[in-house]
Order: sequence, then structure tokens, then C-alpha cells
Amino acid sequence: MSVPRYGHIVVLSGAGLSAESGLSTFRDNGGLWDSHRVEDVATPEAYARNPDLVQRFYNERRAKLADVQPNAAHRALGRLQQAFDGQVTLVTQNVDDLLERGGARDVIHMHGELLKVRCVPCGTVHGWRDDCTQATRCPACGAAPGMRPDIVWFGEMPYHLDRIYAALGDCDLFVSIGTSGNVYPAAGFVAEVRRAGYAHTVEINLEPSAGVSYFAERRHGKAGEIVPDFVESLLKGEAP
Ligand code: NAD
Ligand code: APR
Repeated sequence: MSVPRYGHIVVLSGAGLSAESGLSTFRDNGGLWDSHRVEDVATPEAYARNPDLVQRFYNERRAKLADVQPNAAHRALGRLQQAFDGQVTLVTQNVDDLLERGGARDVIHMHGELLKVRCVPCGTVHGWRDDCTQATRCPACGAAPGMRPDIVWFGEMPYHLDRIYAALGDCDLFVSIGTSGNVYPAAGFVAEVRRAGYAHTVEINLEPSAGVSYFAERRHGKAGEIVPDFVESLLKGEAP
């Protein structure tokens, strides 16, 4: 099946997509950055200074994934990608696996994944569900310490940027869901799409994001309520 109205849809998602599943966002009231300082848990310097604290922060978040389920918005995006095979690029800043569990087949995790750890000495990335500590040995090379969360920290380069920018330049519909628009480069993707010229741009977020003025169309409310209808209209070939 092909997308009748749009040839290539790019969806950028952020923490708001997973909020209704019970995962904290970062910058809302009670968000993760209220109870933790970025400088203490999400930078290479923090890891060098206090690796145990950083490992604990991600161990707790990894363990929490076992208690949460994809919500209606994840499942709708999974349906969309399956229905329009090869024509829907899902880019997420989220480090959870809820899009995959919602049925998505190919998710670009630009900020890494909680369920992966990386051996700094040998570079091997391993799927990981347990806690990771300084005592954890790399299954590939045996090094310890040296296994860190495969998460992009502040000051590090997000993953897959070549693939993402190629998709941004090629898409005819760009949809941003559940992101505050504070963290670059993701916050600049909509401007990049606008620069290329012809794509329709839609923001779906609880409230206007920092980049709201860049979007041609805005739908404000809960992703779990808005996204399923939005996807249904795309599946029917209607304009969103
Ligand atoms: P950046 O240009 O993405 O900077 C992020 C911006 O956010 C900076 O202007 C910074 O001042 C601001 N910022 C920092 N803390 C903030 C907060 N609590 N609330 C609002 N704004 C805040 O460059 P960077 O900082 O070098 O980040 C590089 C990459 O690493 C980014 O893509 C970022 O998203 C990613 N990152 C990932 C994680 C993670 O845990 N997955 C955490 C932090 C950053
Ligand atoms: N439906 C839709 N949007 C929601 C919902 C919901 N149910 N709940 C919250 N939101 C919106 C909020 O209004 C907010 O604008 O989701 C947005 C979440 O923003 P942030 O907490 O800043 O999360 P995000 O944009 O993903 O953060 C980007 O910052 O620290 C880093 O690496 C981390 O990937 C993350 C990046």
C-alpha cells in the first residue's frame, strides 16, 4: 500500500509521547530535570566524576520500562509505519522501547536506548535489561569498568544524523509529537524541513512548544487522544 496523500512522512517524537504510559517527561512540572540536575547525571563529565550515580539514574529508568506499556499514540504510529511500509520515518528522542512495542518496525533513536549498553574500551553495543554497574564486565572483551548506558549525553553527538537530515530534506509531511523544542538539534528539525520548502508541518503537543511558530498546523492536547485520530485520517488518505 502507498500513502495516497503523502509520499514520505517523518515523525519526530519526544518525552510527551510516553507521558501517558507513565514515564516522566524532562521539563514539565515534576519532570526528571526537577529531581535531577543534568550536570549530575547526563553529561560525560558527570559520568567521569560519579559513575555510580549516573549508572543508578539509568538503571532506575531501565527497570521502570518493565512496568509500562505503549499507549494509544505509540500503537497508532506503529500502525502507520506498518501500513505505509518504507514511507514513514520515525525519529525519536525517547530512550524507551514503547514505539517498538506499539508495532513500529524501524525507529531511529537519536538519543540512544535504555535497553542498550556500550563498552567504552572495545566499542561493542549490547542489548541489556539488567542493572549496569562499574563491576559489569563486557561480554565481548571482558573489560570492567567500562560499560556505560548507550545514551547520548549533553555535549555528545546525537546518533544517525545523516539518515535523519536526509529524511527531513525528502519528506512532504513532518509531524512533531510531545517535545518541548528546547534541545537541539531536534528542536531545529522543523526549521530544516521548512528550509527545504514544500512539506506540511504539524505540531502535536500538550501545549505550544518553543518552536510552535514554525509549524503550519498545531494541535494541542494529549498525544494519546490526538494521534490516533490523526493517524486514522492519514490511513484514509485525508489531509491531516
Ligand atoms: P544542545 O545544543 O542540544 O543543548 C541543549 C540546550 O538545552 C542547551 O542550550 C542547554 O542550555 C539547554 N538545557 C540544558 N539543560 C536544560 C534544561 N534542564 N531545561 C531546558 N534546557 C536545558 O547541545 P548539548 O547540550 O551539547 O546536547 C547534545 C545532545 O545530547 C542533544 O541532542 C541532547 O538532546 C542530547 N542529550 C541526551 C540526553 C539523554 O539523557 N538522552 C540528555 C541530555 C542531552
Ligand atoms: N501528550 C502530548 N504532549 C505532552 C503530553 C501528552 N500526554 N505530556 C506532556 N507533553 C508535552 C509537554 O507539554 C512538553 O512540551 O511533551 C513535552 C515534553 O518536553 P520535554 O520534557 O522537554 O521532553 P523532550 O522534548 O523529549 O526533551 C528532549 O531533552 O534532556 C533531554 O535527552 C533528553 O531526549 C530528551 C530531550
